[in-house]
Amino acid sequence: MGRLLYILASPRTRRSHSAAVANAFIEAYKQYNPNDEITKLNVFEESLPAFDGPAVEAKYTILHAKEHSQAQLNAWKGVEGIIEQFKSADKYLLAVPMWNFSIPYRLKQYIDLLVQPGYTFTFSQEKGYEGLVVGKPLLVVYARGGRYPPGSDAEAFDLQIKYVEQIFRFIGFEDIKSIIIEPTLQAGPAVAETNKNVAIEEARKLALDF
Ligand SMILES: Cc1cc2nc3c(=O)[nH]c(=O)nc-3n(C[C@H](O)[C@H](O)[C@H](O)COP(=O)(O)O)c2cc1C
Repeated sequence: MGRLLYILASPRTRRSHSAAVANAFIEAYKQYNPNDEITKLNVFEESLPAFDGPAVEAKYTILHAKEHSQAQLNAWKGVEGIIEQFKSADKYLLAVPMWNFSIPYRLKQYIDLLVQPGYTFTFSQEKGYEGLVVGKPLLVVYARGGRYPPGSDAEAFDLQIKYVEQIFRFIGFEDIKSIIIEPTLQAGPAVAETNKNVAIEEARKLALDF
């Protein structure tokens, strides 16, 4: 039995383009993998632990190979819970809107909790940085109001795909597939609807051997 973790980073649950495509993927995936366990994590609804004072100090304590204080340990439990849930999956689906050319702040908070030394990456003088989440596939569904085609002037503004790709590769992912829905706003609702439907078909196809 496989475990798929679906991370939803749009708060617009009913009108979200990325969620609509991710949901179509899930429906198709269930048909092909009826015994798999699917966990949905909505980063806007989940009470994510704060990554502030004690948690940040706890991270530096690990980086400096020192012992955690009790306050740091308490804060670190929440961080470990997030990482444990993430690492217990063996396949990942992420639905992510572009917000201000990058990602929504709640997804950034989730990533700040997830990316920790000794848990999801390591560093050594000999080998440098190494990701620890290896051999697992990730499908990312990106939705953006505008268009950011490769080679265009707008491409430089696209920090959404660049960041998501970079951070997940940093923690070990190599098999990353993506579906892009754009534009969802710039060219009006009819074009957005057509783009969404094309993306839904692509998602259904990818579900076949994910
Ligand atoms: C706070 C906020 C910031 C946004 N910033 C951008 C942006 O920088 N570039 C862009 O093309 N679209 C931007 N949009 C539009 C969204 O990317 C677009 O509506 C997309 O479809 C959202 O994904 P969703 O439909 O899955 O929620 C923004 C939307 C919001 C709510």
